[in-house]
Amino acid sequence: MPDGPEEISAAIARLREGGLVAFPTETVYGLGADALSERAVDRVFAIKGRPANNPLIVHVSDIEMARRAAREWPFAAQKLAAAFWPGPLSIIVPKSSVIPTNVTAGADSVAVRCPDHPLTLALIEAFGSPLVGPSANPSGRISPTTADHVRESFSPDLVYVLDGGPCRGGIESTVVDVSGTQPRVLRPGLITPEMLANVLGQPIAGPGSNRIDMAAAGALPSPGLLPQHYAPVSPTHLIDRSDIRSMDAGAVLLVFDPIPDRRCIVMPREPLPYAARLYSALREADAMQPALIAIERPPVGSTEAERSVWLAIMDRLSRAAALSE
Ligand code: TXA
Ligand code: MG
Repeated sequence: MPDGPEEISAAIARLREGGLVAFPTETVYGLGADALSERAVDRVFAIKGRPANNPLIVHVSDIEMARRAAREWPFAAQKLAAAFWPGPLSIIVPKSSVIPTNVTAGADSVAVRCPDHPLTLALIEAFGSPLVGPSANPSGRISPTTADHVRESFSPDLVYVLDGGPCRGGIESTVVDVSGTQPRVLRPGLITPEMLANVLGQPIAGPGSNRIDMAAAGALPSPGLLPQHYAPVSPTHLIDRSDIRSMDAGAVLLVFDPIPDRRCIVMPREPLPYAARLYSALREADAMQPALIAIERPPVGSTEAERSVWLAIMDRLSRAAALSE
């Protein structure tokens, strides 16, 4: 049974004390705290072990609440929010002074997003004020897509978990920056550059190939874009289909077709179901404590929409594999 009004009240009591509440969204579970309380936000960084230079997304229940977190509300932000909210899109806009500086890691811009989950929309609306919501996992590890995933990482006295069932989308929101002259995607997701361009009527800049250099230089393009993110504990490798069978016998294989006598997790062939399954599959693989996790390289896709979703998935897969390379 998913949680309801009673659990929402308990969650709000926690938030009012400056405590932490994990909430479901259509992408992954978030680790919520009062976005207007510097101390509550500090607790989020501490419990995740998150570097203080990695800014948090501010979660709102409607456009009005987003506008209160923004110093300016560009027309592009209005168009994108009207088209895609509630939904898996975080929009970076100039930051209002009501948002404490630790939320944005000192940056003058803030990411706002209205998540598409009835329980969490009801929570934020009843709280009456925005919540920060990084993915509810220790920094650098796999994002949670079920309430149990969150409970595996954080004890109930530290984090109250609202259970809204498994997340439908499975990978984190698209992050788009509209605070400059050309809109730019900083993190790819299920809302694709083509979808954004269609609404804005202008081209979208992609995640730059120099993003790691930018991060190393201390700029903050989107520190979640550092290579060592979303990683299992076991060494993880992306493998071409032709090489999968020759992997070490101790490996767990994430493949599209089962291989007899091997430990396999069979993945969906379509990109959206694959995204929804990915993080739980990586957690299951990791729990088997294999010598390594070998992930069969996904296809590129045949339509533009498929290609964009596979690219967002590849972004996560290459980061999952980056730790062990
Ligand atoms: O789907 C999601 O976005 C989930 C759910 C819970 O809403 N949240 C999430 O948060 O993925 P997190 O903290 O794990 O990732 C936020 C990403 C990071 O890469 C961060 O660097 C970037 O957004 N970000 C946040 N605020 C930013 C800002 N002001 N400028 C640039 N990047 C920002
Ligand atoms: Mg995260």
